[in-house]
Amino acid sequence: MTAPADALLAKARDRSAVFGIVGLGYVGLPLALELTRAGYRVLGLDVNQALVDQLAAGGSHIQDVPAEIVAQAVKQGRFSATTDLARLAEPDVISICVPTPLSKTKDPDVSFVLAATESVKRTLRRGQLIILESTTYPGTTRELMLPALESTGLKVGEDFFLAFSPERVDPGNHKWNTRNTPKIVGGITETCRRLAVALYQPAIETLVPVSSPEAAELVKILENTFRSVNIGLVNEMAIVCDKLGVDVWEVIDAAATKPFGFMKFTPGPGVGGHCIPLDPHYLAWKMRTLNYRTRFIELAGEINAEMPEYWVAQVVDRLNEQGKAARGSTVLVVGVAYKKDIEDIRESPAIDIIQLLQQRGATIVYHDPFVSHLEEDSVDLRSVPLTHAQLAAADCVIIVTDHSTVDYALVARHARRVVDTRHVLPRPST
Ligand SMILES: NC(=O)c1ccc[n+]([C@@H]2O[C@H](COP(=O)([O-])OP(=O)(O)OC[C@H]3O[C@@H](n4cnc5c(N)ncnc54)[C@H](O)[C@@H]3O)[C@@H](O)[C@H]2O)c1
Repeated sequence: MTAPADALLAKARDRSAVFGIVGLGYVGLPLALELTRAGYRVLGLDVNQALVDQLAAGGSHIQDVPAEIVAQAVKQGRFSATTDLARLAEPDVISICVPTPLSKTKDPDVSFVLAATESVKRTLRRGQLIILESTTYPGTTRELMLPALESTGLKVGEDFFLAFSPERVDPGNHKWNTRNTPKIVGGITETCRRLAVALYQPAIETLVPVSSPEAAELVKILENTFRSVNIGLVNEMAIVCDKLGVDVWEVIDAAATKPFGFMKFTPGPGVGGHCIPLDPHYLAWKMRTLNYRTRFIELAGEINAEMPEYWVAQVVDRLNEQGKAARGSTVLVVGVAYKKDIEDIRESPAIDIIQLLQQRGATIVYHDPFVSHLEEDSVDLRSVPLTHAQLAAADCVIIVTDHSTVDYALVARHARRVVDTRHVLPRPST
């Protein structure tokens, strides 16, 4: 090990290492606070001035991170936030947690990773460890980041260190969090990996070293592709069961009694969030550059993306039963967040469902206890209270998100017709 590596190890041991977290969103902020809890000092860096001001004042924009925790860390001098990226010279360890969206053509948009790497490069100094956390295609750390950082004349594994460690945070999950979810680490060199493990060890209960950044990058994409493919499979099974006149939920619940060889996934309105609809496309794109077509990814993506159309057709059928057309009808959408008990609407299939119904001329109202205002693409709506009157006024209700605080018994009692994409309505016992 070189002198800079030894110095970093010592700073992990006595917690004197300073962390810089680039990107203070769903991933970066919980990680930053977990590191302060372990005894490190953390400098948060973000390009969003309003967000930095809010955090510096002890506020929080992330549901899973209570404002009191931020306020306490700020007061104790353990956490501060800035938009001044020149301060990236200060931290010993820099974790990059910036977005990795898709372009309009579903190709990876790594512009945020490139911009963050440029910022790091400008102030890169001997003894810094850089860890990319953003989900991305295999090769990003070595092919995009490494050449940029080595263009400074500093050598990886000797002067500075570079690793990939994918974030697995599951917003709204009260059991598994940044601290107790095992964390994968792959370094460009053996020393890079050892250092990343040592520096994260005080904050994360279990670290899982793998042999390379590419392996670590693929772990994350495999996990999310696994979910996308299995959700796609049960969504197709829902369509199959509908055509056969069989209750898909009965079939799934019965299959789940098998104590081995079956893992329960449930159908729904499609997939949402920043991960499952996007991440598999990163791998599909990478493989296209190697002349290989990832067929499972494409097929699951297609089926999941078609689910809003399927459920809208169900709504149209329920209206038809009443002799009504979609045009001129009122549809109440219950739940618009992409999953239960959170406020995140990114990629939510509810938005597709609303737009498809609006295109057919329906009037949409929605209720979501977590999302008071829905402003996305052409949709601009405010949540209405879930009352007897609202339910009775709707020609059809469609349940899209299964928030645990919604009174589904009330829906069952007062709605004229219901399409239940999540199987949450109370059912008669058999
Ligand atoms: N949200 C999740 O549940 C989740 C879970 C696991 C992994 N991920 C992955 O983690 C990454 C981050 O996702 P997120 O949900 O935290 O995103 P986010 O949009 O919540 O936060 C990203 C933050 O980065 C900031 N930012 C953008 N460019 C920057 C730059 N050049 N310098 C400094 N700050 C910059 C933005 O202002 C924003 O505050 C993505 O790759 C995502 O796929 C997300």
